[in-house]
Amino acid sequence: MTHDSPDFRAHQKQLATAVEDALRRLTPAPDTRPAELHAAMRHSLEAGGKRLRPILCLAANALFPSALDPLPAAVAVECLHTYSLIHDDLPCMDNSDLRRGLPTCHKKFGEATALLAGDALLTHAFWLLADAYRDAPEVAAGLVRDLGDAAGSQKLIGGQVEDTIGERGELTPERLDYIHRNKTAALIAAAITMGVRLSAAPEGSLEKAREIGLNAGLAFQVIDDILDVTSDAATMGKPVNADAENKKVTYPRLHGLEASRAKARALTDTAVRLCAELGGDNAFLVALLRGMESRVN
Ligand code: IPE
Ligand code: IPE
Ligand code: MG
Ligand code: MG
Ligand code: MG
Repeated sequence: MTHDSPDFRAHQKQLATAVEDALRRLTPAPDTRPAELHAAMRHSLEAGGKRLRPILCLAANALFPSALDPLPAAVAVECLHTYSLIHDDLPCMDNSDLRRGLPTCHKKFGEATALLAGDALLTHAFWLLADAYRDAPEVAAGLVRDLGDAAGSQKLIGGQVEDTIGERGELTPERLDYIHRNKTAALIAAAITMGVRLSAAPEGSLEKAREIGLNAGLAFQVIDDILDVTSDAATMGKPVNADAENKKVTYPRLHGLEASRAKARALTDTAVRLCAELGGDNAFLVALLRGMESRVN
């Protein structure tokens, strides 16, 4: 199976549809009081992202037999990711007007509601894990640990802080790696780890899963930086050249486009090699990792 084969595409579509259905089922309906807030949450959730993190979670879960339904965990990861995008787009952060091809949450609903919609999605992610897996408390606690670690002050938020302050600070490769590993790779690593945690995987699999995700996740952010320079807003569904405008520390800015592409390739190769080591039924996951490298949006 390769990332451009019909069987890969069909399976990816099937997983994306399962995620979309579960998102609607496992989050409050948009007319739930306060309707303005729930409509704002739905606006950003249903704007149609790639659903990469939940699909990675499901693909990782399918490596080994699994008695537990991975969909609530996949939805929790997407809620957390969507919250991070809503806040990332706020005027005090990247000040962006377009996301997933639609006006950003604050453009449509105002800053206060967008801030609160992000808060609510963040909280909902952890509630959902605790609620959906309450009959398997050890697994539930592990999932909360995985997600809480990735989303916390030393990972996602830490990366966002240095990314934001980085607009004024010194440009060093070490700093760039810190930002990218934490703001992006940590959550991608959590998505894969959580999928594996929900399955009957052999001893030692969680560490390997995390390593796969860290490599693939760093590659993902390197490519995001490249696309900000080389793509267009219609393809991306978000503004391009935003990093230069915001004076961000990015891979192309520090290392150039060619070296950045080579870095993304090397990181993906490492992720694929670790996937082979992890074993299980990994043809789809490997194709997905390769597809992430050649993505156009
Ligand atoms: C955007 O993530 C934020 C980054 C970490 C680069 P995605 O590119 O996965 O965005 P969606 O979910 O498809 O909208
Ligand atoms: C976003 O990074 C990372 C998080 C939201 C945690 P970017 O600022 O590069 O993402 P885009 O380019 O706006 O999607
Ligand atoms: Mg940002
Ligand atoms: Mg941004
Ligand atoms: Mg970006």
